[in-house]
Amino acid sequence: MSVTKQQVANLTKDAEKAASLIQEHIDNGDVIHVHSHVDADGLSAGGIMGKALLRAGAKFRLRLERWMDEKVADRIAQENAALTIFTDMGSGYLDLLGERLQNKDVVILDHHQPITELPEGFIQVNPHTHGIDGTRDISGSGVAYFAAKALDEKNIDLACLAVVGALGDLQDKNKERKLGGVNKYIVEDAVKSGFLEVETDLLFFGRETRPIHQALARTTNPFIPEISSEEDKSLAFLMNLGIQPKRNDKWRALRDLSGDEKKTLLSSIAEHLVSKGLSGDISFDLVGDVYTLTHEEPWTPLRSAREFSVLLNATGRMDKAGLGAAIVMGDRKKCLDEATEMIQQYRSTITKYLRWITEKPERLEELDSIYVVRGDGFIDEKVLSPVCTILSTTLTKLGKPIIAYARISGEDQVKISSRGSEQLIQNGLNLGDIMQVASEKFSGRGGGHDVAAGAQVPIKDVEEFIKLVNQLVKKQLAGEKVGS
Ligand code: C5P
Ligand code: ZN
Repeated sequence: MSVTKQQVANLTKDAEKAASLIQEHIDNGDVIHVHSHVDADGLSAGGIMGKALLRAGAKFRLRLERWMDEKVADRIAQENAALTIFTDMGSGYLDLLGERLQNKDVVILDHHQPITELPEGFIQVNPHTHGIDGTRDISGSGVAYFAAKALDEKNIDLACLAVVGALGDLQDKNKERKLGGVNKYIVEDAVKSGFLEVETDLLFFGRETRPIHQALARTTNPFIPEISSEEDKSLAFLMNLGIQPKRNDKWRALRDLSGDEKKTLLSSIAEHLVSKGLSGDISFDLVGDVYTLTHEEPWTPLRSAREFSVLLNATGRMDKAGLGAAIVMGDRKKCLDEATEMIQQYRSTITKYLRWITEKPERLEELDSIYVVRGDGFIDEKVLSPVCTILSTTLTKLGKPIIAYARISGEDQVKISSRGSEQLIQNGLNLGDIMQVASEKFSGRGGGHDVAAGAQVPIKDVEEFIKLVNQLVKKQLAGEKVGS
């Protein structure tokens, strides 16, 4: 969606308000508490804010949260910080935060669909309040970047991290695989600062530097059976196509392929996907804007903004979110080695679950209006979200949203993830509203974006919850309003 200069100016004005409250607290010498979400966008957002605060000489603490609920809100209220900043979270829980943090200084830098009115004393920077689409046009890290830039123009070098966050939230999910809306301005800042280069090409990870079969195997979204995460099979696939992986004894990278070889590769992957019963419209997923972080070492996963976001997701989902945030804030060496190892584990965990789901058709159960994946007892709830994302982007022809759930370990609750397609959104689907309304019926909590949303509900209610979601999707697609 196109965004007007006025809309960007309005967002900037809010960011300036947030920055001036933050500056007041820095000048006071207060300890500022920052809470951010653990996914790639949340880690980028928290890292951007952390870096900006560090540069401003602030005392602060960054804490990464898996979600917001009563328990988390109570804990944050007890901390009684002079200033609490939420990045990539908060707007969907304004009622709860308003109750728990009454009369406190709170800044919310978020892009989730806001609910209810803004509580007294809160400052919120959120694209939705200015008619900007927070799902596609700017991410949580983009909003954090706006506030960082309002704090100090020098923070323009952090724009490239907001590009990483936006890609982590799949804001390039359009035909050209290009960041648009407010993200376009952020990309411009990142390029202007000299930290980012943008080209159009194949989107496989390590396009410039890695052997082709490794680049193919590292790309798991879309998930290509027998290629994603499988270097040996990838190599065999290339050889079969007559694409030479080496020239003069040196591995070739994707950038070394001729135009014809690239075409052969894409069309063969498309055929391969169709033969596996998946969508073959691969040019949509595998060709687009490549965002290169020019100051990162070429061989590291940080060089490509998309791969950087996968690394962050890996740390966040494998219980090492602090590592991801440290990398965003500039730590390399040991941190990077550890995180790089984590990507391998993350990829193989996801691949294991995707295989498990696609092995038997009944594991992707079709109801009237939704598909359901019952991961209870098998899928680790911590990687449910990326598994659900990859399923929905790979199975584009599904035509119904996917709802997946898994048990939260040690609790009587399940974690729910839901994903829809752009087509369904155009037909009126809003999963954020559905997750919020349905979870609240069962004393759970939920929300998010139109195309991707989540919830937590008691395990005993999960069947009823799914029934209700099935009905609500049907209603929404028939044009009826669900929720506020
Ligand atoms: O957890 P998952 O990635 O499936 O969530 C999708 C989106 O919904 C995320 O942006 C997340 O922040 C949001 N969400 C939410 N409330 C929840 C769970 C998820 O706002 N209880
Ligand atoms: Zn986000």
